[in-house]
Amino acid sequence: MSNLEASLKKHVHEHFSEYTYDMFMMNMSADLEEIELFSEYVDILNDKKMYTFEAARSGTQTTETDLHRENGESIHIINLSSYNYLGFSYHPDVIKAAQNAVAQYGLGASSSPVISGTYTIHKELEKALEKFFDLPGRGVSLFTAGYSVNLGAISAFIKPGHKVIMDAASHMSIVEGAKLSGGDMSFFRHNDMAHLEELLKAQCDDFTRVLICVEGIYSGDGDYGNLKDVVRLAKQYGAFTLVDEAHSAVVAGDNGRGVCEMQGVLEDVDLYVMTFSKAFGGVGGAVYAKKEIIKYMNWYAKCRMFSCALDPAVTGGMVKVIELANGPMGDERRKRLKSNAKYYRSLLDGKVKLSEGDAWVVIVHFGAESKTLALNDYLQRKGLDTSIIQFPAVPRNEARIRMFITSEHTEAQLKKAADIILDAAGKFDFLLK
Ligand SMILES: Cc1ncc(COP(=O)(O)O)c(C=O)c1O
Repeated sequence: MSNLEASLKKHVHEHFSEYTYDMFMMNMSADLEEIELFSEYVDILNDKKMYTFEAARSGTQTTETDLHRENGESIHIINLSSYNYLGFSYHPDVIKAAQNAVAQYGLGASSSPVISGTYTIHKELEKALEKFFDLPGRGVSLFTAGYSVNLGAISAFIKPGHKVIMDAASHMSIVEGAKLSGGDMSFFRHNDMAHLEELLKAQCDDFTRVLICVEGIYSGDGDYGNLKDVVRLAKQYGAFTLVDEAHSAVVAGDNGRGVCEMQGVLEDVDLYVMTFSKAFGGVGGAVYAKKEIIKYMNWYAKCRMFSCALDPAVTGGMVKVIELANGPMGDERRKRLKSNAKYYRSLLDGKVKLSEGDAWVVIVHFGAESKTLALNDYLQRKGLDTSIIQFPAVPRNEARIRMFITSEHTEAQLKKAADIILDAAGKFDFLLK
């Protein structure tokens, strides 16, 4: 064992609670040392009853549930860790629609969508989404994950010699899509339109095609993108736009068309990305764009063409979700979600460092990532599960408690959750002074 390996091993054992993601990313030798060390590390955490991740749930993502840790412990929690914003993942009509689809089409699609994996239920979903967004000349390309939509769409649209300009807070799937494309890449400071313009001014003439990638609601920051300004700058400098509405499609805007609807730019966006894993309550995703672009995506987004089509049960469930989301239930749940988010924020406002705005992704900053494990363990044991995030999801030492509010939470659950956060903030020293 080299000195470096020995000292890292010692560090892992002595400072197990100060985990950082990149601790195990060094490729130290040919003998899989970093892989074995990581496995040892997870075992240490399990022994110490501190492995808070991947705890299994035995039921649906309801607002309260039990989680079962790998070490055998079961803990009852208020669930603010699932982005099932409108509660559709367990809606009985959605489950019934999925059951009907599985009965008709079978379990898997068993082929790529461009070969024999496209079923009539996929066509129904495409039509339902086209009708939902209702812009002439637009179509939908379906993918098996939201992650794959960004990966596939960006790498199909952008080639070497083109350029991708991204918000610095962009989701990993956008960054990886840009890398895969082989295009030139730049980042502008989060939501900083002056910096975006500076980059466009300096670089637009050097590239034949430029794609600006932003999000409707930033997943790690919980704030809205400046879509109006992004669209204005894109038009001014002849760039294209991709808006990832993962956390906002079917939720934001009066009719659920996303932050694009809220800010009046739905028609101006070139690639509208949505994931079915969040407010849709399923899995998979889609890009909504001009029909010509969609035909191209269907063939040239490699993770779509060289992969099995979206499974029929989820596809059937998604058709039902769109029907519900487009009717009175959608209106009512969107309204409740927004008032729940407002109420929850009011309980924390001024007491901890909270994300800006009024969105349902609520972020509390706690700083050093060395606190993450102990804090997450503390929160779960007090009865609250959150989606805690740290580097590389967000910059180093800017770790955050991320909480997803849903339309289905009760005020009592939200009050209890806020009390637990404030108690933890006192204990872990992130109350505002
Ligand atoms: C902004 C954003 N884009 C894309 C994704 C990937 O979506 P999925 O989990 O559906 O693959 C996520 C997931 O968290 C996300 O937050």
